[in-house]
Amino acid sequence: MNLELIAYLKKQSQFTPLPELEEKLELGRDQLFSDVEALIEQGYSIEFHPYLGVKLLDIPDRLLKHEIRDDLNTRHVGRKLQIFDQVSSTNETAWELIEADPKLKDGTVVLAESQTRGRGRMGREWHSAKGAGLWLSVVLKTSVPPDKLAFLTGGAALAIANMLQQFIHLPAEIKWPNDILIRGRKVCGILVEARSSQPDVYVLGIGLNVNQARTDFPESLRETATSLRLERPGARTLNRVRVLRPLLFYLERVYLQIKKKKWDRLAEAWSEFVHMGGKQVSLEQGGQEYQGTVVKVHPSDGITLKLAGSDEQRTFAAESVTNVRELPAAEPEQVEP
Ligand code: BTN
Repeated sequence: MNLELIAYLKKQSQFTPLPELEEKLELGRDQLFSDVEALIEQGYSIEFHPYLGVKLLDIPDRLLKHEIRDDLNTRHVGRKLQIFDQVSSTNETAWELIEADPKLKDGTVVLAESQTRGRGRMGREWHSAKGAGLWLSVVLKTSVPPDKLAFLTGGAALAIANMLQQFIHLPAEIKWPNDILIRGRKVCGILVEARSSQPDVYVLGIGLNVNQARTDFPESLRETATSLRLERPGARTLNRVRVLRPLLFYLERVYLQIKKKKWDRLAEAWSEFVHMGGKQVSLEQGGQEYQGTVVKVHPSDGITLKLAGSDEQRTFAAESVTNVRELPAAEPEQVEP
């Protein structure tokens, strides 16, 4: 692929005449034609006009290293990229890389076009269709106090929600502990893993649904899952590279705060995206279901409920609960006339 040609075309807002490209890139006409054709084959959208020349309309919706790096405004996260067409799980591949290379760089990002066994929380499966979303794992090498580990998930949720709101202008919300919702449907899941053989190393897995149509989701998920495309006005598709770059940038911002142990600042920013206070929820812990009103939610302390039918308040830690569901608001109590 002629990267110089891509870089030159990116700088032009109009058509570039062929003689100009020949001269600047020191290419013969045949070579220029064959390089342009090769780019089109790689998925670049290029307009060709016999008199006006060549114009680059868009980059491919593919995880190309040179495109992800182009304009990537980070110092650690995503500076090293490992990109695969298909893996079982990017989290698993990240662990293999960590184990194979003790010097693997902090912030290395593993990406795949598809996963055959993408994993979610509590042993669930994560549906990761080819090219439909961003399936990535970030290698984090940092020491986090045990009571603050949940900030890795919370920090990632904050970064993603912030990016979706500020960059894609969608009303993203964090559903404790690890989901990102848009208009009540799940668009993104986060899975942070640790291994006792690798102290101070974490794998942060992120699954972000980008371009799925409703029927691309398995039937069991159609009511509860969504994609950025489905939530955008006109259901317009997005180029995943254009979503990935700001995502890595926002992740790095949060990661630096985690490294600096800015817990209170992170918790405050995080709580702006959590709208669960006062809601009726149910959740499961140790095979038992609990229902109650949310009194407080905090990235590392957990969720505090005023349990239904009693005055007891109980706090649940993120790692111990499953199936957090919002319940329909309780009817106001009837007062006898
Ligand atoms: C969840 O909501 O349960 C968490 C889902 C996390 C899915 C991502 S996709 C990329 C990374 N690799 C995996 O196997 N899982 C995470």
